[in-house]
Amino acid sequence: MSNTVFIADHPLVKHKISHLRDKKTGTKEFKELVSEIATLLCYEATRDLPTENVSVETPITAAEVPMLSGRKLALVPILRAGLGMVDGMLTLLPAAKIGHIGLYRNEETLEPVEYYCKLPADIHEREVIVLDPMLATGGSACDAITQIKKRGAKHIKFICIIAAPCGLERLQKTHPDVDIYIGQLDDHLNENGYIVPGLGDAGDRIFGTK
Ligand code: PRP
Ligand code: URA
Repeated sequence: MSNTVFIADHPLVKHKISHLRDKKTGTKEFKELVSEIATLLCYEATRDLPTENVSVETPITAAEVPMLSGRKLALVPILRAGLGMVDGMLTLLPAAKIGHIGLYRNEETLEPVEYYCKLPADIHEREVIVLDPMLATGGSACDAITQIKKRGAKHIKFICIIAAPCGLERLQKTHPDVDIYIGQLDDHLNENGYIVPGLGDAGDRIFGTK
């Protein structure tokens, strides 16, 4: 099995990500942009959802029309920064259930440390979309998805806003069954594990903690 990797080429996504990168963009605007980009990436990540025809009466006639069918959805943001993407996803998927997984990167080793995981009880039946704006070394996304799989999930997609090539490669190798949706693929990681050019620390910029 090999992943689908989608990298957005839509001018709206590019424009909004450019504003995110700007260090002059404040917390309020940053949060709004993350949410809007999540909606645009959600549109792409749901292209393959199945539909089935159902009967409706329009004001004019009876018609067979397509409606979503198949598995229900669950969104799982990786805390903290993934939380910023939830509202934008719910704009298009209002019935999705929400799980949470808490991970932070140890600043010296860059290894993820898990501190929380609460998922919908029927996660094994759902189409799961894991959310995190940043895919840097890939450690957080790989570990989060491993934990979500251990709790029974079988159908998983991952959406991020900015990815580094090494994180993308690690995620592809570790979870070849997970399709990956990316806003923009950046150049590299710096010596502190930050994406270059990137946007800095996504969690701090969303929550105003620095
Ligand atoms: C950031 C980001 C990812 C992780 C990416 O979270 O939101 O979860 O780093 O880095 P990686 O790909 O190298 O693992 P952080 O650890 O800063 O936690 P926070 O969201 O709570 O600030
Ligand atoms: N986490 C972030 O928030 N930003 C980066 O550039 C890398 C990891």
